[in-house]
Amino acid sequence: MRIIKSINYMQNMALTQRASGRSIGLVPTMGYFHEGHLSLMRKSVEENDITIVSLFVNPIQFGPSEDFDIYPRDLERDQKLASREGVDIMFCPTEQDMYPEDFKTSVNVEKITEKLCGASRPGHFTGVLTVVSKLFNIIQPHRAYFGEKDAQQLLVIKQMVRDLNFPIQVVPCPIQREEDGLAVSSRNVNLTPEQREAAPALYKALAKAKEEIEKGEKNAGEIKNLIEEEINKEPLFELEYVEILDKTELEKVSTIEGKILIALAARLGEVRLIDNISLEV
Ligand code: PAF
Repeated sequence: MRIIKSINYMQNMALTQRASGRSIGLVPTMGYFHEGHLSLMRKSVEENDITIVSLFVNPIQFGPSEDFDIYPRDLERDQKLASREGVDIMFCPTEQDMYPEDFKTSVNVEKITEKLCGASRPGHFTGVLTVVSKLFNIIQPHRAYFGEKDAQQLLVIKQMVRDLNFPIQVVPCPIQREEDGLAVSSRNVNLTPEQREAAPALYKALAKAKEEIEKGEKNAGEIKNLIEEEINKEPLFELEYVEILDKTELEKVSTIEGKILIALAARLGEVRLIDNISLEV
């Protein structure tokens, strides 16, 4: 596996590979790989001639009081893990090269970025879309792989790809979970043992909601209350939001029918966790 830091070098190499007819899969990441990242890499390796993993902790998608400084980083460990999965190139640009002093552009998608995580993290999705656009332009992949854990991010990126005519197929990949149900996330390592023990309550609440819906409950308000009550039983949680939405426009629903996303975010001390389930009723 090659490590490439230079944007120009990466772009020229990707162009050459494309011109010679090879398909390119991109897995954009912020590193500190876990099973979620590895599952995206595996899918890309399976579906493309070349897999490029980008590793860049993107400062512009973090708010001033967020966890950019404590975001876990371990390049050596990540290199070993990616190489084991058959990744061909790890692209690790520097902050200075990605955002030189005179950088002035940002990419935004309206409306669907204003709710859920967008409401509590102003500017977050603009930061994500700006860096993802840059990565798409540098690497020009045929396919790009994103996890369904970041359901809103996935939807927003798909919208941008459609709106800006990026000739790229966005490939969604299922949430990976620990044995106790906690969705895997790079941030989980920042949980204290006590917080880690409490964390699976998020998925348990979602699973309980699913069970009630499968038994016939259609009232979104009831399901939302049930999830909130379950999570609030655990005093360490500070619940940010629980929303029941239609999966395409992320509009809140009052009756559970069609394609539904139940999404939530909660804090355990410094660590912000998100999770979701999708249902078709
Ligand atoms: O999901 C992430 O890790 C990041 O938001 C992404 C897509 C790599 C952009 O920095």
